[in-house]
Amino acid sequence: MSDFLKLEKLTLNYGGPTPAVENLDFSMQASELVALLGPSGCGKTTTMRAIAGLMKPASGTIMLDNRDITRVPANKRGVGLVFQSYALFPHLSVFENVAFGLRLARVSSADIKRRVDAVLASVGLSHLADRQPRELSGGQQQRVALARSIVVEPKLLLLDEPLSNLDARLRLEMRSELSRLQDELGITMIYVTHDQAEALALADRIIVMREGRIEQSGTPEDIYERPVSIFVANFMGFENCFELTGGKLKGIAPAGFETGSAAGIAWRPHAVLLGQGAHKGTVVGASYLGQVVEYLLSTPLGDIKAEALASAPRHGMGEEIAFDLPQAGAVLLARR
Ligand SMILES: Nc1ncnc2c1ncn2[C@@H]1O[C@H](COP(=O)(O)OP(=O)(O)OP(=O)(O)O)[C@@H](O)[C@H]1O
Ligand SMILES: [Mg+2]
Repeated sequence: MSDFLKLEKLTLNYGGPTPAVENLDFSMQASELVALLGPSGCGKTTTMRAIAGLMKPASGTIMLDNRDITRVPANKRGVGLVFQSYALFPHLSVFENVAFGLRLARVSSADIKRRVDAVLASVGLSHLADRQPRELSGGQQQRVALARSIVVEPKLLLLDEPLSNLDARLRLEMRSELSRLQDELGITMIYVTHDQAEALALADRIIVMREGRIEQSGTPEDIYERPVSIFVANFMGFENCFELTGGKLKGIAPAGFETGSAAGIAWRPHAVLLGQGAHKGTVVGASYLGQVVEYLLSTPLGDIKAEALASAPRHGMGEEIAFDLPQAGAVLLARR
C-alpha cells in the first residue's frame, strides 16, 4: 500500500537561527488517525500549517494521495484545518456556517441542503441548525467548526488542539464523538494535542515531537509502555526518570536486573513500592487525588513520586519511609 500522506525531509523556517521544524520524515495511510504530541513550541502547529499550505517549506516535499502538493496553493489541496479558536461567522446560522465552503464551491442548493443536513446529523446538531453561534455552548460551537470542515469532504483533516477550549467533561464527550466520526466516515486525520490521554484514546499511531524533530513514532501501546527516551517517558507519566551511568543510578546498581547499555530508567508513581525495600526517603509532599495519595519523597536518588491507596494509613510530612524501585514496572530507556 502506498502512503497517503508523505512528508520528506521537511524543513520549516520562520527566519530565525534554527528552523522550527527540521528534516521531518513521516508518512501515514488513508483512514489513519495520527496524533501529533509534544510540548509547547516543538513545531506541531508549524507542521500543520505546512501540510495545509499556509506556509512554504524551506526544503523538502509533501506528497498527498500520490501527488506532490509542496507548491500547490492551500485551497487546491483538499486539506481541511480546524484550529483551536474555531472562528465561526457570528452573523450566520449554524446551517449557513456549515454550508459556507459549499456555497463558495458553487455546489447546487439542493446538494448543499442534503450534505449539510447529513453532516449536522452526524455531529448531533440537526435541532440547532437555525441558531446563531452566540446561542450555542462552547462544545456545540466546536462541533459546528468540525461539521464545517467535514462537509467539504477533505482528503485529509488536520485538527490542531480542537478541544482545548472545552471543559474536562465536554472534552471527553467530544473525544468519543470524534472517534465515532472517524470510524464512520473513515477520514484521514492528524490530531495535534499536548494531552497524552487524548492522544492515547484517539490515535491509531502517535508521533512525539521534540524541538522540531520526531522523537518517537508508534502505536499508543508502544509509546505508553515502551518509551525510547527520558523525554518521551516524562511525557507519558513516568514521573520518576533517572539517567544511568554505566548501568548505575547514582552509583547504585538497580537491584536484581540488568540495565545493559540503557541511558535511563523510569518508574510511574504507582510502580514505586512504599513501606518496604532498600531505599529510604523523607515525605516532603502529599497530595490527595481521590483514589490515591501521591507522595513526594526526598531521597538520596533525587525526588521520587509514589502513590498509595487513599484507604491505606497516611504518611505524615517529615516521616521517613522505606521504598523499593522494583523491576516490575521499570522501563529502560535507550536515550536521554
Ligand atoms: N509566526 C512565527 N514567527 C516566528 N516564529 C514562530 C512563529 N510561529 C511559531 N514560531 C516558532 O516556531 C516554533 C514552533 O512553533 P509551533 O507553533 O509550531 O509550536 P507548537 O508545537 O504548535 O506549540 P503549542 O503547543 O504551544 O501550540 C516555536 O519555537 C515558535 O516560537
Ligand atoms: Mg500549536
